[in-house]
Amino acid sequence: MSEFKRTLITSALPYANGPVHIGHLAGVYVPADIYARYLRLKGEDVLFIGGSDEHGVPITIKAKKEGTTPQAIVDKYHEMIKESFEKFGISFDVYSRTSARIHHETASEIFKTIYDKGGFIEQTSEQFYDVEANQFLADRYITGTCPKCGFEKAYGDQCESCGTSLNATDLINPKSMLSGNVPVMKETRHWFLPLDQYEPWLKEWILEGHKEWKPNVYGQCKSWIDGGLNPRAVTRDLDWGIPVPVEGAEGKVLYVWFDAPIGYISATKELTPDWEKYWKDPETRMLHFIGKDNIVFHCIIFPVILKAEGSYILPDNVPANEFLNLEGDKISTSRNWAVWLHEYLVEFPGKEDVLKYTLTANAPETKDNDFTWKDFQARNNSELVAILGNFVNRVLVLTNKYYEGVIPIAGNLELRDEEALATLLQLKSDIEKALDTFHFREALKLAMEMARLGE
Ligand code: MF3
Ligand code: ZN
Repeated sequence: MSEFKRTLITSALPYANGPVHIGHLAGVYVPADIYARYLRLKGEDVLFIGGSDEHGVPITIKAKKEGTTPQAIVDKYHEMIKESFEKFGISFDVYSRTSARIHHETASEIFKTIYDKGGFIEQTSEQFYDVEANQFLADRYITGTCPKCGFEKAYGDQCESCGTSLNATDLINPKSMLSGNVPVMKETRHWFLPLDQYEPWLKEWILEGHKEWKPNVYGQCKSWIDGGLNPRAVTRDLDWGIPVPVEGAEGKVLYVWFDAPIGYISATKELTPDWEKYWKDPETRMLHFIGKDNIVFHCIIFPVILKAEGSYILPDNVPANEFLNLEGDKISTSRNWAVWLHEYLVEFPGKEDVLKYTLTANAPETKDNDFTWKDFQARNNSELVAILGNFVNRVLVLTNKYYEGVIPIAGNLELRDEEALATLLQLKSDIEKALDTFHFREALKLAMEMARLGE
């Protein structure tokens, strides 16, 4: 770690098409926040970046459903999400949004730089088109059967069941989300990032160079790279997004997964004029905190974008988590199966830390995990109250009773005092080791050992 002078922590930008729930908190924002606070405590130079992802098809679909505009949707949810994070004490140094002007400029510039270098392939191909809706069907406007795992509701850009990143034309039995019709094929011109050309480099950089990444992350990268990469379109025929900044691209916008991660850069720019230090100096260590459905974008596509541009650093680690389920069932926005943060804040005011504790104690670090209210109650009563609360209470009561509320100078240390001090030192170093390797559950368990020691 000593080879680095500073750390840039990014946390996935949530889509501003709905509120955030406990899955977001457990998988991304609580671990990222713990890590940022840990480095700050050690006096390190650290920035913690967040923001809302305001482009892409999920937003336009939501606007259509609610009979309003995409801008109204993102304005509403950006505020709501930002407020939830504030109330939960997620200590971002900046919380920005991708509809910000500085972001449009930054993303356009990066696209232009790669374009001018000849880093894209320009290709006319046939894409799905909905004749009734008079619109091309990008990404989530199309659903069909996943060619890899057979899941029947895969999207045009990704299968949420097996995590495979798809091109819309890979889907079997494609159907339009707009009309339900079988789409026709229509020619259109787009710019593609030639991921295939980066295969040897990705093999060396990840498969050889980052064997220390979490097994779930490394494993996904390996299977994508070994499976062979294809050129990937980074533009879309849509009217919501950042206009493609070259001539002859009217009616086209940047693919949301091209612009969104660049949001980390724009947010840093918004925060400090010194932003380049965090993005272009090899002595900066960059970490992306994300959920497992974002691995391909942060480990392969975004690094290739940065590499193609040429002047940016790459992530040093991508500590992605698995998913959190709720009472044995997959969290789902469309089925309204979630614990929404804005609702929790009303139900349990002042109890933000109890939820953060429970989510960390039960974090989906190595496998999907389950949140249950029974477990929440048990952890509150038998851990936070019975162990930590009891310990703090006893220390205060006894200090008041015997020492008039002032911590006394240490007297002669007995053997058991020496032993307790040695255990504390050992715990401190074990906690640091756990935090340094992103084992937050373990770190929390060890921290509770400190309170147990006082029993
Ligand atoms: N909005 C995406 C999601 O919720 C995450 C975007 S992360 C970013 O899955 F890097 F692209 F910003
Ligand atoms: Zn699949």
